[in-house]
Amino acid sequence: MRIVVAGGGGFVGSHVCERLIGDGHAVACVDNFITGSRHNLDGIIGHPRFHLVTEDVAKAPDLNADVVFHLASPASPVDYDRLPLETMAANSLGTWRLAEIARRSGAHMVYVSTSEVYGDPLVHPQPETYWGNVDPIGPRSCYDEGKRFGEALVTSMRRAKGLSGAIVRVFNTYGPRMRRDDGRVMPELVGAALEGRPLTVHGDGSQTRSFQYVDDLVEGLIHVGLDRRTDGEVFNIGNPHEITVRELAQRIIALVDPRLPIVEIPSRPGDPQRRKPDITRMKATFGWRPQVALDEGLRRTIDAFQMPSPRVAAEHALEHAAEHIESLSPTTGAHAVPVGWAIPAVQEPAS
Ligand SMILES: NC(=O)c1ccc[n+]([C@@H]2O[C@H](COP(=O)([O-])OP(=O)(O)OC[C@H]3O[C@@H](n4cnc5c(N)ncnc54)[C@H](O)[C@@H]3O)[C@@H](O)[C@H]2O)c1
Repeated sequence: MRIVVAGGGGFVGSHVCERLIGDGHAVACVDNFITGSRHNLDGIIGHPRFHLVTEDVAKAPDLNADVVFHLASPASPVDYDRLPLETMAANSLGTWRLAEIARRSGAHMVYVSTSEVYGDPLVHPQPETYWGNVDPIGPRSCYDEGKRFGEALVTSMRRAKGLSGAIVRVFNTYGPRMRRDDGRVMPELVGAALEGRPLTVHGDGSQTRSFQYVDDLVEGLIHVGLDRRTDGEVFNIGNPHEITVRELAQRIIALVDPRLPIVEIPSRPGDPQRRKPDITRMKATFGWRPQVALDEGLRRTIDAFQMPSPRVAAEHALEHAAEHIESLSPTTGAHAVPVGWAIPAVQEPAS
């Protein structure tokens, strides 16, 4: 299949691209690298079935695809705090553009939304039928409401224009290629432990989270994306195993250095107290369930974090990498379409 992965240069997107290439599909990754890194794609750049389109998703060229995954959005609090308008644009204008591409080429679209659409939930755990408790003008609203708009847009495109589309609400995901400085709790704690610093928790650390290893998310996304019967459906994908942030810090300390202390710092405004997915629907539809236990996922993440970070590597290799990519990518010009991905011209009826 020909599969567009918007945001394929990011943490989750790069794992999706790799998996799809490994499964024999052709992948066109659309990314402007506003929060991602070309180094996330080091393993597949140059592969004959992989095409990189370095472009804003809102200006993505016409691509003739079978499936379109939309993951392009700043995703961590640090990023969307710094990039609020870019976040809203990626989820509104970007979603609109990808929905048009999907509709015109008859592709099935998967809009990658977030558990943040549930806000600070009053229902626990959160099923897909829960409408959420979101502050539309709060510190996270560019992301939460951006994603809610994206969901409404996909829904409206289905109703008004016949788009085939599904929505996935992703819960906290972690694993190799998370940026150390992205402000999310997992890289923050693992990074601190590896640098021998105290592990900080917001408030008393009793807020709970449930952490899903990235491979489990990728498996779930592929189930939804490659099955057109998911048209019109919404799926939570996450790991329902709930732990407190303090307990997470303790697990990391046990794996890295038992002498490290935990330090409490002030709570962040708008930080949800509890978050746990109800994954009944994914289980019933696909038999999907998380496979990677927290300690195993932590071990793999800690190992990956001990390699040079993509940012550091990027600084060392920037010049060479840029030349390398330009020479490999057939898509360097704005709006250029990779070979084999053009939508066939509509035949004019003979007069
Ligand atoms: N990681 C998680 O825990 C998590 C949880 C919930 C939802 N999600 C969703 O999954 C998706 C991927 O998240 P991630 O953690 O991999 O984040 P990420 O920042 O690592 O990846 C996002 C990618 O999208 C690209 N991008 C952003 N705006 C773009 C634009 N306008 N045009 C083209 N490319 C653009 C970035 O450069 C980056 O490569 C996001 O949509 C996010 O909302 C992630």
